Amino acid sequence: MIMPIPFYDPYISYDDNYQTGPFGLFAQPLDTPIKALTPSYFLNLKVNLPFGIPAGPLLNANYIKAAFNYGYDLCVYKTVRTQYHKSHPLPNVLAVHPQGKLTNSLSTVLADNDYRQPLSITNSFGVPSFSPDVWQVDMAEAVASAAKGQYVIGSFQGTQGKGLIEKDYALAARLVYETKAPILEANLSCPNEGASRLLCFDIAQVERIVNEIKNTVPDRPLLLKLAYFDDNRKLIALLERIGTLVDGFSAINTLSAKPINHEQQPALGEKRVESGVCGEAIRWAGLDMVKRLAQLRQEMDLNYAIIGVGGVSTPEHYQHYRQAGADAVMSATGAMWHPDLALTIKQNLN
Ligand SMILES: Cc1cc2nc3c(=O)[nH]c(=O)nc-3n(C[C@H](O)[C@H](O)[C@H](O)COP(=O)(O)O)c2cc1C
Repeated sequence: MIMPIPFYDPYISYDDNYQTGPFGLFAQPLDTPIKALTPSYFLNLKVNLPFGIPAGPLLNANYIKAAFNYGYDLCVYKTVRTQYHKSHPLPNVLAVHPQGKLTNSLSTVLADNDYRQPLSITNSFGVPSFSPDVWQVDMAEAVASAAKGQYVIGSFQGTQGKGLIEKDYALAARLVYETKAPILEANLSCPNEGASRLLCFDIAQVERIVNEIKNTVPDRPLLLKLAYFDDNRKLIALLERIGTLVDGFSAINTLSAKPINHEQQPALGEKRVESGVCGEAIRWAGLDMVKRLAQLRQEMDLNYAIIGVGGVSTPEHYQHYRQAGADAVMSATGAMWHPDLALTIKQNLN
């Protein structure tokens, strides 16, 4: 099967993608009308179809405009910070070929440039960001480009080493709020800053971050981007602390693994022996998290929204996430290599 040209080019740097992308279909205007559907509600907003692209592949307003144009109605602007932060050098994206199911226990996976279906990739950027004076203008432009029934979600995170991290998260939230992004998403699940554990597993810290954000920006829906929790007791503990404070969860981010090349060496270089895997190999984990979040929502009498993320590349995958309890579904890897995925899902709906 010939792979379509991805809208993010894995062979060139993040900066070159930022300046010259998107590519492939996303670089061309759509010349057929998009099938109109009965709108749904997501966080009390009327959305054409609760399907979109999660934080990452949509680097700036040019990418968001293309995604809206191709029928993705919930588009997350790639995670920003309160200060400039450089991207890791190439490679940032590689295909990975796990043997069987990828577990959550740092498996070693072969990584190369052989992109084929069913596709799993690793991505390793270090959460780059321009400074707020650059991204605020651009994010505001992305927000303004939404057509009826479409929304930008502004993803952000705090940076370690800038005083109390919760203060930096709150500052980032305020800066995103100023762009008029209708939904905020705090990323608590990217492995970076040399952190040995992900922020979302430090429940006391998450509570401080959420409180600080909500005190600073009380009147804008707040989502938390979570990693896969294999310990359900930990997930319950998290929900007990912040389940009534936030408006929803986006789950999941990547599963960590150790990518190696054909010579058995770290595929991303000696300094990056671990990285996040996404795509086909993690769908089981995304679905499992969504099912548990939906079950706990009912059992604990909470009413947060759930965005299901992980390994979605067909209309059936979209349906599986909806059946698992997701109020909205998103695809990063799938959409990158199938830019017409939202159109296909819409065509398949009655
Ligand atoms: C190229 C790329 C960049 C990403 N960057 C971010 C990011 O900046 N912030 C974030 O929360 N997640 C980021 N992610 C993770 C995705 O949002 C998503 O959680 C993950 O890829 C799983 O979805 P998928 O299987 O559809 O790819 C990135 C993913 C990809 C593929």
